[in-house]
Amino acid sequence: MKHRALKVRRNDPCPCGSGLKYKKCCMNRETILDAGQNRDLYYRKYNIRLKDEKDIEGIRRAGRLALRTLDLVGSHIRPGITTEEINTLVHEFTIQHGAIPAPLHYRGFPKSVCVSVNEVICHGIPGDRILKDGDIVNVDVTPILKGYYADTNMTFFVGTPGPDAKKIVAVAAQCLKKGMSMVRPGNRIGDIGWAIQIYAESQGCSVVREFVGHGVGLEFHEPPQLPHYGRKGDGILLIPGMVFTIEPMINLGRKELNVLSDNWTAVTRDGSLSAQFEQTILVTKTGFESLTPFDL
Ligand code: MF3
Ligand code: CO
Ligand code: CO
Repeated sequence: MKHRALKVRRNDPCPCGSGLKYKKCCMNRETILDAGQNRDLYYRKYNIRLKDEKDIEGIRRAGRLALRTLDLVGSHIRPGITTEEINTLVHEFTIQHGAIPAPLHYRGFPKSVCVSVNEVICHGIPGDRILKDGDIVNVDVTPILKGYYADTNMTFFVGTPGPDAKKIVAVAAQCLKKGMSMVRPGNRIGDIGWAIQIYAESQGCSVVREFVGHGVGLEFHEPPQLPHYGRKGDGILLIPGMVFTIEPMINLGRKELNVLSDNWTAVTRDGSLSAQFEQTILVTKTGFESLTPFDL
């Protein structure tokens, strides 16, 4: 018999009898190992630190605090409030709950939260800008609670949104949801970005390339990087214990950006609106769990 006849192809039923396709099963058996082996392999190969139960509970707690912080901010957002006032709310609430705001002094960032209005894509620095009716504002919080980081953001309407604001916020929220739906063992990092990009572009919007999702939990930004664009089947295999953010930045117009002279504020080059939602996601045995869950 020719060797070729014995070859199992990606889409064939797996010879192990699981009923799954080969590509979703034993094709990856070199990386689907027991927990201890995975830990060493992923650290050696990718510098990825898989999280254990204790880590996960710590990140979950930080995540709950992060969500309560966003809730508090949401209840204060109205026309007339300044971005500095949002910073004060976040800073004080975080400290009161025994946590530290990770952004403060991170690589020289001067404030405790990123607040990004309208055409600001991300990393907006709180200051005396006054929010006005019809604005959209992204608030990105990352508390460090007992050494654990959780990273989450949402985009809020200020007063009554116009049609463009409604559209970009809805598309950005759906992008995160579609990205999350790809998270399960056997899928790959590229599948997440692929799902996001396909959807964003189908709506006539664009995906920012310069900022990506990232491993998180023991530090603010850990490997791996997660582009919000890409090709199906590309990149690192997802396995249980990975914790990373998905945080697509979606522009109503073109994807290109400029960074202002403060070296932080990223804005759309064409001045179009940009929106973002972010959650911290754990890969579980059967799929994913959001450690910063909110409805999308
Ligand atoms: N929270 C942002 C992220 O999602 C990072 C902000 S870095 C800072 O990755 F220094 F601006 F805070
Ligand atoms: Co992040
Ligand atoms: Co963030």
